[in-house]
Formats: sequence, C-alpha cells, structure tokens
Amino acid sequence: MPAPRCDETAAWAALRRHFDDSGRSFDLRQAFGAEPQRFERFSLEAPEVFADLSKNRWSEATRALLLALAQECGLAERRDAMLRGEPVNTTEGRAVLHTALRAPRGTAPFSDTVHDMLDRFLAYAEQVRDTASSGFTDIVNLGIGGSDLGPQMAVPALDAWCHPGLRFHFVSNVDGHDISPVLRRLDPTRTLFIVASKTFTTQETMANAQVARAWFLAQGGTDLGRHFVGVTTNLEAAAEFGIHRTFGFWDWVGGRFSLWSAVGLALAIAIGAEQFRALLAGAHAMDRHFAEAPLAQNLPVQLGLLDVWYRNFHGFASRSVAPYHQGLRRLPAYLQQLEMESNGKGVDSQGRPLAEASCPVVWGEPGTNGQHAFFQMLHQGTDVVPVEFIAVKRPTHDHAALHSMLLANCLAQSQALLWGKSTAQALTESAPTAAPSLDRAVLARHRSFPGNRPSTMLLLDELTPRALGALIALYEHRVFTSGALWGINSFDQWGVELGKALCHQLLPRLQTGDASGLDSSTAGLLNRLRA
Ligand code: F6P
Repeated sequence: MPAPRCDETAAWAALRRHFDDSGRSFDLRQAFGAEPQRFERFSLEAPEVFADLSKNRWSEATRALLLALAQECGLAERRDAMLRGEPVNTTEGRAVLHTALRAPRGTAPFSDTVHDMLDRFLAYAEQVRDTASSGFTDIVNLGIGGSDLGPQMAVPALDAWCHPGLRFHFVSNVDGHDISPVLRRLDPTRTLFIVASKTFTTQETMANAQVARAWFLAQGGTDLGRHFVGVTTNLEAAAEFGIHRTFGFWDWVGGRFSLWSAVGLALAIAIGAEQFRALLAGAHAMDRHFAEAPLAQNLPVQLGLLDVWYRNFHGFASRSVAPYHQGLRRLPAYLQQLEMESNGKGVDSQGRPLAEASCPVVWGEPGTNGQHAFFQMLHQGTDVVPVEFIAVKRPTHDHAALHSMLLANCLAQSQALLWGKSTAQALTESAPTAAPSLDRAVLARHRSFPGNRPSTMLLLDELTPRALGALIALYEHRVFTSGALWGINSFDQWGVELGKALCHQLLPRLQTGDASGLDSSTAGLLNRLRA
C-alpha cells in the first residue's frame, strides 16, 4: 500500500483551513513585532550550513501542520527506502544511491565498487595534476546536463583550491559556437578531453566528442588514448569511440546527482584528491543530518516543506536563488536541472494526474548583479517570488572592504523585501531625480514597496570543498522531500524524450528540405532556415 500523496491526507485539508484562516493574510512584519524570538525559533543549524527561515510566511502552527503532512505521507519511510537502495525510481526500476558515492567505505550499498572506482579516478586526477610530468595545461569536459553542470558549477566555486597551472573548459551545447572558441585556444599536445556521458549516446556530447577528435587528429595530435578519457556507464560505447581509459559509474546514479562519481573528474583534477574527498565528506555529513535529525530540525525537510507550502497554498510559481558569492554563479543553472528535471512532473509515481501543482520555476543570478537587473520586480512586481540568499562569512580573497559591501547588500535586500516601504513613509522623503511637476502622492506610490516578501538566508562560514558538498546535498534532499510529498518519481526524466525524437526526424529534413506532413509553422521555419 503506497503512502498517500499530499492532497489525499487529513493534514492537507487542515493546511487548507489553516491557510484560509491565517496563512493567506500572514504578515511577516507583524510576526516579527509579536515574536521577539522569531529568528531563534526559525533558524536551523545543519552541517556547514546555517539557515535563517524566519523571514518566511509561516508560523509555528503552519510548521506543525506541515510536519504532520510529512508524517502522513511517510516521508521518513520513503527516505529510508531510498538510502537502503530500494528501487524508488519505479519507472526505470532503479535504486537511487548517490548518497552511497559519498559514504565512508563499508557503510553503504555497493561500497567496495564505489571506493575502488573513487580511488582509481582520484589517482588518475593526481597524475594529471602533476603537470611537470603529465604536460597538460588544458582540461576540456565534453558533456551536457548532469555530465556538465556539476563540475562546471563547482570548479569556479572552489577556485581558491584549483590547480593554478591548469585551465578548465566546459563544452556542452551542440551549438558549434560553444566548442569553436575553446578549440581555437588549445594546443593538442597539452590538452586532455574528458568525454562525460552516462549513456554515451547523448547527441550533443557525441557530436562534440567527434569534433574534438577530428580537430585533435587534424592538428597532428597523436596518442588519442592519452588525450581522451571517458566517464560513463556504457563502457562498450566508449571503447567503440576509441576511448580506452574509462571511469565508470552505475545506473543507480542519476545524471543530475552524479557530481560525486567519476563525472566529477574535471573537478577532482582541479582541486585534487584530498579536497575532492572533503567535498564528499561534506555531502555525507548532510546525508547523516537528513537521515537522522528529527524532521522538525531537519534542514532539507524544512526547506522542502516550505516549498510545498509556497507552491500549493500561496501559489508562488517560482523561487529565485541569489548566491552572494561570485564563485556560485553557475549554481542557479545547476539547481534548475536538479529541481526542475526532478520535480517538473504532471503525474504521480502511479501515473495518476497530479491534483496539485508541482515544481516551481527556479532561477537566479549571483548578487549583487541581480540587484541591478530583476530585483526591481522582486521588490515591486505583482508576483511574489520567494528569494533564497546564500551568503558566505569569510571570503577567500584579501579585499575585506569589498566583502563587507557584498554582505551588507545581501542583508539589505532581505530586509527590504521583508519591511518594504509604506506610501506614508515615501511621502516624507525627497526624491531629487523625480520629475518636478509630478504630484507628490503619485510619486510616493511609485516609491513605496509592499514588503512582506519572503526570503530564506543560507549562511556558510567559508565556501570550502566540504561546505560546497554539504550545500549541494542539502538541495538534493530538499528536492527529494517536496517530490515525495507531491507523490512523484523525482528520479526519471521522460519529459526530455519527445524533443529528442522530433529532432532526429527533423535533422534529415533540414538537409533535404522535405517539409511534407509538417504543421505550417514548422514547415515555414524550416524553409526559411534553408533559403
Ligand atoms: O536529456 C536529459 C539528460 O538525460 C539528463 O538527465 C542527463 O544529465 C543529460 O541528459 C546527459 O546525459 P548523459 O550523461 O547520458 O550524456
């Protein structure tokens, strides 16, 4: 008997009543006025991450009802089933065991296999890092989606730990404008290509790998076996391509959860074996927290519950992620795949249409850049978008004044979202840049802010490999939590198939011009593209 879906529970009906009674009208400013302990009550300490959840539109009563929902939906049992290695990815009949990739030897399923491979690819990473003997200066990762976004996000995030003598390039797009400028700057004798693809069939990666191989040979490159390595679950296909040094992983590692496997090879080369193990240790610490902390003090669970509260009761359709750390500039893109490919589903795991909305749109840019772009909308637009700030206490650079400015900006934005500015207050202020003829009351309305806009603050002491590991694992488990409550399979991605299949049909038509049987828009565009 499967655990019920969120909307089939008594807690859901209670949450509906609670939302109608007090949730919809909840005002954060009143809550802060009435609860001097609100920050302490709604902040949580998890491994490497401190979270302030107090600026969210929820009360103790909301939280209690959400916890009751988690219990009724069997969240803890579902989590434990995943961690035990049960085939929770039901549509593909697979276990979901990215947590086993960062568990110490002997403590999780497939431990020996995992650790033997880890030792192997980390030893290889160390060989490459020994640039005096390897001769490499440039590492090119050819992969897409989960075989690209993880290392692409983590290498700049951990820049302070990266090998100073190596340059890293990430080519993912089938658009030749991605690979061309990279190849133009490379010396084939000093370049290592990593072809990363779980399936080794992905169109973009295979096409780019062929372009890279042809370029390498055309440049007089020799010893393909030394300059191309593969990371895949499909060792046969890699061998067929001509790659003989391969690092494997397994079908129970989803692409978007694969940073911890050999897919992290480019990162391991960048930061070295010791720091890669620190990344894994940080993720493992978060795994233990997720597995062991009571749900009320369990940070990924709390974040997942808030996600459900916002999406299904407040109706907020998106969430903005604002990392106040330039190194985390690719984090929003990474999270887009992690969250939206996992929970962007319309049916539950039994194939029944969902009765309630699922995954919101996740988007963002690093602060402070976003402040000069879309924060206008976050502060005064007609939609409420919860914002997730990520701040780091200690920088890895020496410009203390810049870091203070960065942190002050981060705090100021969350404060401005919370408190806003009333029209009465705006009336008392002067606005030197306003048109002199403008009516004062009209101007004040333009210059007022609604406030009561929710935000979460995630705080790290330092963006170390260990902290990054914990942060990413936190997001993985949060996605699991909301997905489990929505009753969906967060581990398949059938929604990417249709476009791929249609592309295969259209590719020859682009060459021949055959537009027969196509709708008039597709046919018209195809003709224009060929003209
Ligand atoms: O098309 C989506 C997807 O299957 C992702 O889930 C995956 O991370 C990406 O493509 C790349 O797949 P592969 O690693 O097999 O090349």
